[in-house]
Amino acid sequence: MQEVIGYLAPLRDGLVVDCTLGAGGHAAALLEAAPDLQLIGIDRDPQARQLAAGKLREFGDRVRILGGEFGELGTLLRQAGIEKVDGILADLGVSSMQLETAERGFSFRREGPLDMRMGPGELTASEIVNCYSEAELQKIFKEQGEEWRARRIARAVVEARAQQPIETTSELRRIVHRAVARGQRQRIDPATRVFQALRIEVNQELKGLSRMLDQVVELLDADGRLVVISYHSLEDRIVKHRLRDLARGEIDETTGRRRSESRLIEVLTKKPVRPTPVEVAANPRSRSARLRAARRL
Ligand SMILES: C[S@@+](CC[C@H](N)C(=O)[O-])C[C@H]1O[C@@H](n2cnc3c(N)ncnc32)[C@H](O)[C@@H]1O
Repeated sequence: MQEVIGYLAPLRDGLVVDCTLGAGGHAAALLEAAPDLQLIGIDRDPQARQLAAGKLREFGDRVRILGGEFGELGTLLRQAGIEKVDGILADLGVSSMQLETAERGFSFRREGPLDMRMGPGELTASEIVNCYSEAELQKIFKEQGEEWRARRIARAVVEARAQQPIETTSELRRIVHRAVARGQRQRIDPATRVFQALRIEVNQELKGLSRMLDQVVELLDADGRLVVISYHSLEDRIVKHRLRDLARGEIDETTGRRRSESRLIEVLTKKPVRPTPVEVAANPRSRSARLRAARRL
């Protein structure tokens, strides 16, 4: 939280877009830290927008809330009559509210239907689990869950659903546990990566992130800031590589050197910023967060 304010609040005034409004925690902290700042908050989840609207009411017309996907950031802003912004914040992934609402099916620790939609999308986790081919399941468990036992788990899912459809979070968790059981103690629940993979697939999270990053150069005013917080290495890798590419500048054909005047951004975080032990103690979900920030040149 302090780092988000630190990287964005030098703006003091101007307009920041929070692409992942959630419960409005970051938004409220930014608006408090910079009394002349205006904020556009976006979330694809109507429930989150409602929650945030309550929390941010005290800031009156300094805040505008928009529904939609940050992959369409440019279009959403243009529809609101905005061409450029001074700051872009994205705090990726699911919110605590989404995780803790059992009926939304994000958490294997809560009994619920296999849904996992963050917004009003059509595809649910249940459709993936019950309809994707074994090869497709293996691919998403491996690529979007970084699950090295993807083959074994995909096979177990297909065998189980041949008996009866897999409907709930706890049924899926049990199937994964049975598929990988080897008696050794595991640091994380064996279902973690499978649930991550399904959530990413349902919400097309990596595509949305790449599309948003494609638009930041065009949308940020000179000296504008970008702050992205990721929670797993797939997201962080995308952010790291895209920022590095934008910071490099073109190669001059005659000299073979990079033309510094063609650099589009400056990366402000040499390494990803991690939460302090104090923040992790207060908010355990922050433990896997990695923050990267950049400045538009
Ligand atoms: C980790 S939470 C954000 C929490 C927020 N920073 C706070 O302080 O309360 C992520 C939020 O982003 C939303 N979200 C995730 N991907 C999105 C996307 N592609 N477009 C719009 N909203 C998205 C989720 O619905 C969720 O509410």
